[in-house]
Amino acid sequence: MVAEIISGNAISKQIREELKQEVARLKANYNIVPGLATVLVGEDPASQTYVGSKVKTCNELGIYSERHDLSADTDEQTLLALIDRLNKDTKINGILVQLPLPKDINENNILLAIDPKKDVDGFHPINVGKLMIGEPDYLPCTPHGIQQLLVRSGVETEGADVVVVGRSNIVGKPVANILMQKRTGANATVTVCHTRTRDLYSHTKRADILIVAAGKPKEITAEMVKEGSIVIDVGVHRIGKTKEGKNILCGDVDFESVKEKVKAITPVPGGVGPMTIVMLMTNTVKSAKLAAGVV
Ligand code: GUN
Repeated sequence: MVAEIISGNAISKQIREELKQEVARLKANYNIVPGLATVLVGEDPASQTYVGSKVKTCNELGIYSERHDLSADTDEQTLLALIDRLNKDTKINGILVQLPLPKDINENNILLAIDPKKDVDGFHPINVGKLMIGEPDYLPCTPHGIQQLLVRSGVETEGADVVVVGRSNIVGKPVANILMQKRTGANATVTVCHTRTRDLYSHTKRADILIVAAGKPKEITAEMVKEGSIVIDVGVHRIGKTKEGKNILCGDVDFESVKEKVKAITPVPGGVGPMTIVMLMTNTVKSAKLAAGVV
């Protein structure tokens, strides 16, 4: 069997088109322009690329964007003061602080300072808690993008054995939470594996849907997956450069061997990555509508 490729490029494009129309409708009917502020501290090249793509996508969709790039030695007070200003700014509906932050800044203090109504990442404890009790306002972008990839490519999650590898606050924990919800596009039986899991193979091997956010290049090999299963690869690793100087990327899954065995798989790049950005835009538009009381 050769797997179907679940294209995040194609599915994110569909959602982009839907959003573009929604942004145009909000402008025409209510004179509303959703606004996103991005905050980047330091010069990490991967983070710079991610923030650049977010700003570019805002421009393409007609969403107002404001980019705040701060030096790596920025202190916590300065960052908190910026967040306070953005919380009060009515042009801004979403505030995205790119993670990870430099180690001298306490990440939890920063996430706690963002107005939960503008927390389009869904990382504020209030939004984490709302998801946990099944009443979410904003779903975290990467996990929400994974759910959309599954739903829009016709993968049945109802009653499925989902195995998540990785327990981060950004992907592993929230994707487990989302897929165990009592609602359509979820209702799965979810197992979360991590670095202390005793026998990873025994879990991955029985997954109908395997979601890998482990942070290790090509960790999941063909013998670790079930024949006919669905594999979602969240990892992105730079493993070299082409002659033209472009980055060569790979995921947490050994794509070449695994694709011979499974029913469907996401590629890297072009799988989960483009979904994260488009779900951020979805949350920003939702926030603008909630702020204006528009449905
Ligand atoms: N770093 C890696 N993924 C994310 C994300 O979804 N949001 C933010 N703010 N930072 C990240």
